[in-house]
Amino acid sequence: MLEPRFSGVLYLWLLCGTVVPMVESAIGVNWGTISSHRLKPTTVVDLLRENKISKVKLFEADSDVLRALMGSGIQVMVGIPNEMLPLLSSSPSAADLWVRQNVSAYVGRGGADIRYVAVGNEPFLSGYNGQYQNLVMPVILNIQQSLVKANLGGYVKLVVPCNADAYQSSALPSQGAFRPELTQIMTQLVQFLNSNGSPFVVNIYPFLSLYDNKDFPQEYAFFEGTTHAVQDGSNVYTNAFDGNYDTLVAALIKLGYGQMPIVIGEIGWPSDGAIGANTTAAKVFNQGFINHVASNKGTPLRPNAPPMDAYLFSLFDEGAKSTLPGNFERHWGIFSFDGQAKYPLNLLLGNKELKNARNVEYLPSRWCVANPSSDLTNVVNHMRLACSVADCTTLNYGGSCNEIGEKGNVSYAFNSYYQLQMQDSRSCEFDGLGIVTFLDPSIGDCRFLVGVTDKGTDSSSSQTTYQWWILLLVLILHGIFLLPM
Ligand SMILES: *[C@@H]1O[C@H](CO)[C@@H](O)[C@H](O)[C@H]1NC(C)=O
Ligand SMILES: *[C@@H]1O[C@H](CO)[C@@H](O)[C@H](O)[C@H]1NC(C)=O
Ligand SMILES: *[C@@H]1O[C@H](CO)[C@@H](O)[C@H](O)[C@H]1NC(C)=O
Repeated sequence: MLEPRFSGVLYLWLLCGTVVPMVESAIGVNWGTISSHRLKPTTVVDLLRENKISKVKLFEADSDVLRALMGSGIQVMVGIPNEMLPLLSSSPSAADLWVRQNVSAYVGRGGADIRYVAVGNEPFLSGYNGQYQNLVMPVILNIQQSLVKANLGGYVKLVVPCNADAYQSSALPSQGAFRPELTQIMTQLVQFLNSNGSPFVVNIYPFLSLYDNKDFPQEYAFFEGTTHAVQDGSNVYTNAFDGNYDTLVAALIKLGYGQMPIVIGEIGWPSDGAIGANTTAAKVFNQGFINHVASNKGTPLRPNAPPMDAYLFSLFDEGAKSTLPGNFERHWGIFSFDGQAKYPLNLLLGNKELKNARNVEYLPSRWCVANPSSDLTNVVNHMRLACSVADCTTLNYGGSCNEIGEKGNVSYAFNSYYQLQMQDSRSCEFDGLGIVTFLDPSIGDCRFLVGVTDKGTDSSSSQTTYQWWILLLVLILHGIFLLPM
């Protein structure tokens, strides 16, 4: 199937006679679902379409999510979780089954447009101590065979999203190389990717560089110029993204694949849960990145050739993610958990700002707070328990609720737990220390959430129909009354 865009590319290619065809890079999003309050997948797909987002990356083949994407025209990258790699590396029939159940079942006319299968998620991460790295190529070979058997061999491309720690440089981008223990695997991987027409997928996080290193010059993380530019031969780097990207380009050049297309699998900035994680910084970073890609300037080692595609991390906050990396881990969304835009962002896809999710089904407007009349001396254990299951990350230093006082802390924890338990009245007891209120206790930037549900019947469409009937009725009545008798 020829996309309309393709002929344009061909034309440009003929016109300029360059070897690297100019391809418009597209901005997509990562849609993760490790959340205790999930929106209905159909609501999310409507949100994507409202915002003209045409590419999503999924971390697993969630059947509700894939079903909701069917017929949407949105291109999908679907991930195989690392935990499945041992089975899929050793069993071709398990690979067949995976492809049948998680790809073939959804593709085709009116189906989900699955373009990529991501084998593992950052399987070479040094934190995994090598437990997945030797499984990657065997899984690729098995899944590729299964795709060929399913007649999807050319259409669905295999990729491996890598953390940027797969490569390193002693000092400058031009000295970049893959980690020595990965050289052999990376050689096989890029050979496969190249022969299969697949891009190299990498996740790049200037926020983490800043978070991990107090000496990291802050402006270098953004795209607005810096007094700490890095001189690399005749090349000048003014932002961490370009430096990191070109370190990868240099590593690929060393393996003989300097022209391999690169896709940014994850990039973003968290808005809460750490110093330096706030909505202002997130907006500046994300908008800066989007504009940078759209400028088509590329990087010093790849001038005029920006990444092929880039998937923002992330679509939503995911309040049930592990906080091991830091409290910010639950706050990467450009939308909050309930599909409300956190800040104006122009994705350059047609809308000037993000549009909020519609028809979100909230639980009733009520909150659980600390009973004002009770003595809170025994509250510590309740609070600890509540926060061990519910999300209290915004309470910590650097978070949006860090300054709401001791009683505020307790109320926040109680409410988080109460909403997690879908407002079950018993979950607000806390030995008489909790009380349900109908007044929103949110203070300033500190938002006390009301949960959402994806469990309700899909009433949005019938509700809309109902509203149309009312409107029609009103119009008819008006029409009748306005008609000259
Ligand atoms: C399909 O993907 C889901 C989600 O990752 C997984 O739980 C399931 O086991 C997969 N199916 C097969 C047959 O492997
Ligand atoms: C937001 O974070 C940036 C750095 O990421 C920092 O410079 C700025 O002071 C922060 N703003 C607020 C209001 O905390
Ligand atoms: C509220 O809780 C946070 C996180 O535990 C803590 O940093 C902060 O000091 C607490 N505030 C008060 C007034 O106790």
